Amino acid sequence: MNGFDLRGRHVVVTGASRGIGLAIARACADAGAAVSGLSRAGASEPGIDAIACDVGDAASVERAFAMARERHGTIAMLVNNAGVAASAPLGRTSDELWQQIIATNLTGTFLCSRAVIGEMREHRFGRIVNIASIAGLYGAPYIAAYCASKHGVIGLTRALAAEFAGSGVCIDAICPGYTETDMMQQAVWQIVGHTGASPEEARAQLAAMNPSGRIIDVATVVRGAMEFLTGDRNGEELVLA
Ligand SMILES: NC(=O)c1ccc[n+]([C@@H]2O[C@H](COP(=O)([O-])OP(=O)(O)OC[C@H]3O[C@@H](n4cnc5c(N)ncnc54)[C@H](OP(=O)(O)O)[C@@H]3O)[C@@H](O)[C@H]2O)c1
Repeated sequence: MNGFDLRGRHVVVTGASRGIGLAIARACADAGAAVSGLSRAGASEPGIDAIACDVGDAASVERAFAMARERHGTIAMLVNNAGVAASAPLGRTSDELWQQIIATNLTGTFLCSRAVIGEMREHRFGRIVNIASIAGLYGAPYIAAYCASKHGVIGLTRALAAEFAGSGVCIDAICPGYTETDMMQQAVWQIVGHTGASPEEARAQLAAMNPSGRIIDVATVVRGAMEFLTGDRNGEELVLA
């Protein structure tokens, strides 16, 4: 146990095959929850029951949530974490890139939230935590699709928090800055490739974009998610940057 108690709860974490999602799924399992971990190609590990799902595909989401429910019962908590990122100037943002990012980050959050809201309302209890980004609150160059998708996630969080206020279902968002995961490593290689900077210089550039001047630890994001899951705050945005 890690100081949080989720015994008796079934938590679904999307994007649970690596990075922030895997760390949140592990923390939920440590806290005693039954955990369904969704990703396109995730492998189960003790305490995390992996289910294949493309969160941007409505039929795939329907199948995955039905399977999660069949295996572990009513879903009490959902962490919408699955996400993809890529950078490109607007003129080189292809239709495919735009659609993939919006489908995964924004439509995925909508589809998964819609999949659980009925049972949460029925039981007058539910927690939905959306992993957005500081790119959901501020603009930045060369990430129009990502930024638009994460602004959408923040708008969706605010709308749902208002819609379900007082129902026992709480919906909140976490807005991390650059965080130590594979996704951030990709951004490092992209800067190296485009500018000829060394990997260390690229990391320093990304760190400098966070208000703290530091890369955020995955553990900090996990703590924020666990506090939302075990508390009763609604409609809040936790900035960890
Ligand atoms: N790292 C950062 O600097 C940072 C900063 C702010 C916000 N965030 C947000 O935090 C979340 C997690 O990011 P991360 O850094 O942990 O990324 P990551 O290491 O790249 O992991 C992304 C996860 O999402 C899953 N995923 C991607 N597309 C999916 C899809 N269509 N359906 C289901 N699962 C999908 C991946 O699994 P599969 O590939 O197996 O599907 C993987 O488990 C994302 O929403 C990201 O935007 C990250």
